[in-house]
Amino acid sequence: MRISVFGCGYLGAVHAACMTQLGHEVVGIDVIPDHVAALARGEAPFFEPGLPEILAEGLASGRLTFTTDATSAADATVHFVCVGTPQKRGENAADLAYVHSAIDALLPILKAGDVVVGKSTVPVGTAESLAERIAEVHPDVELIWNPEFLREGFAVEDTLRPDRFVYGHADTEAGRAAAGQLDEVYAVALASGTPKIVADLATAQLVKVAANSFLATKISFINAMAELCEATGADVTLLADAIGHDNRIGRRFLNAGVGFGGGCLPKDIRAFMARAGELGVDQALTFLREVDSINMRRRVRMVDLAREVCGGSIVGRRVAVLGAAFKPNSDDVRDSPALSVAAQMQLQGAQVTVTDPEAIDNAAKKWPELSFAASVDDAVRGAEVVLLLTEWSEYVALDPVALRGQVASPRIIDGRNCLEPAVWRDAGWTYRALGRP
Ligand code: UDX
Repeated sequence: MRISVFGCGYLGAVHAACMTQLGHEVVGIDVIPDHVAALARGEAPFFEPGLPEILAEGLASGRLTFTTDATSAADATVHFVCVGTPQKRGENAADLAYVHSAIDALLPILKAGDVVVGKSTVPVGTAESLAERIAEVHPDVELIWNPEFLREGFAVEDTLRPDRFVYGHADTEAGRAAAGQLDEVYAVALASGTPKIVADLATAQLVKVAANSFLATKISFINAMAELCEATGADVTLLADAIGHDNRIGRRFLNAGVGFGGGCLPKDIRAFMARAGELGVDQALTFLREVDSINMRRRVRMVDLAREVCGGSIVGRRVAVLGAAFKPNSDDVRDSPALSVAAQMQLQGAQVTVTDPEAIDNAAKKWPELSFAASVDDAVRGAEVVLLLTEWSEYVALDPVALRGQVASPRIIDGRNCLEPAVWRDAGWTYRALGRP
């Protein structure tokens, strides 16, 4: 099939490359010329395992192209909308400007029988208004809402082998025919038995924000338990193991620490609350305000713990921060808990040096006031306290004996509960963690 993908940021670039892996001919369209030029050279504009390889394969096959020219999408029949919906500046609501621009670009080139597929995360109700805009000009073009659940770091795997498909469309003959075209796009994954939930537009839009809200709530729940553990001398990691054995609860997404960040969970729960307010059902989501506050409190607690470990003051103290990305296997620093903690400590007078295997360039652009080091060795040299804030596998595997020789004081705070306390204490370190005695 011939497919177009509007928006070649995180979601769109991965989606375009993966669709060529499924055998389709794909044109990726973006408004940023440098971005398009990099993708056309096979350079992924962000770190994502597996993406450079499938970009290269797609470009070499001639079935994957990137351009700024939206008219190149004219001979495609299925058009994916993969643009970003960032948080509006100073507000909780989502900014839909890019979604509307994508529809503006599509309207002149759509033809009878085409299908527009929305993948962006949008406030419920957006798809209905986009469908109306399209129908005014092209009554014979259908819109399907088909949310994306990919995780950064596993984006290729999650796109090629998702754990479910969700289709939202009109319950009409034309709507069902459009869904049939989307089935053809995903034929390989559907043949392997991936479940498909067919719903109306509103449900499909809600599924995405409901899933992200649930995940955020799970993380904040365990972080709230960490606060209780800190007040009582209990251990949140054992607590999580114990409750996680109940398969109604499950152990995944119960890792207590400095909390969630990134380009999705924080902005999605805020936009969801804003939308609930517009719909007059804000009370239904007031708990998400608490989810957000618990999450932000963990960052403050981390700074307080560092102060306590340093004997009551961090002013002038040399602090090494391991991790800048919001999570491992990513160079994404959007709303990164690690950088937020580093910046707060710097602001309060500490001398902070941050390192990360992939995210230093992005971090330095966003936080120029912080110091960065290319390696753990350079970051920890002379440090009076080490903060592990992103659980990259190389940090989890650090040798406490070797590291001890490089720091000024062997004190570590494990902000992700990913180290073995006994191993570090046996090597002479003061080991502290969030939610553990
Ligand atoms: C998330 C959703 O998982 C994905 O389905 C959706 O499509 C986009 O948003 P992502 O932002 O890539 O994906 O990150 P995710 O792996 O969900 O982690 C989010 C944050 O939660 C990270 O900062 C991570 O460190 C934190 N986290 C995760 C915890 O603090 N504890 C956990 O147990 C799990």
